[in-house]
Amino acid sequence: ESSTEVDISAIEPGQAIKAIFRKQPLFVRRLTEKEIAEAGAVNAGSLRDPQTLEERTKEGHRDILVTMGVCTHLGCVPLGAAEGEVKGEFGGYFCPCHGSHYDTAGRIRKGPAPTNLEVPEYVFTSDTVIQAG
Ligand code: FES
Repeated sequence: ESSTEVDISAIEPGQAIKAIFRKQPLFVRRLTEKEIAEAGAVNAGSLRDPQTLEERTKEGHRDILVTMGVCTHLGCVPLGAAEGEVKGEFGGYFCPCHGSHYDTAGRIRKGPAPTNLEVPEYVFTSDTVIQAG
């Protein structure tokens, strides 16, 4: 029960789903080619919490972003997974509690959150299944 398996095969590019990991929301997003390019074009050194897309995803699976669905400000659940068009100004996630905007790599770009959405420990157990924890 300390680990969670998620079947990612049905997640379309540009779509994100919610799962539960250790009683907290877990977001799994499949990035489009455009979103990958946009995330890669950002100068990571200029960010509040400097991280590249490569540091936040797995080799061979750059299109799969796995993060906790917990805003790093005060812990609200950001919108953008399973809410269709709600993605915030940077195309990723938006926390409505105090207005934190996260980009397509789950990095904080605007608003009060101090750090990026946490990437939990996880592995690909196959091409279509991830296991967190
Ligand atoms: Fe998300 Fe404050 S809890 S912006």
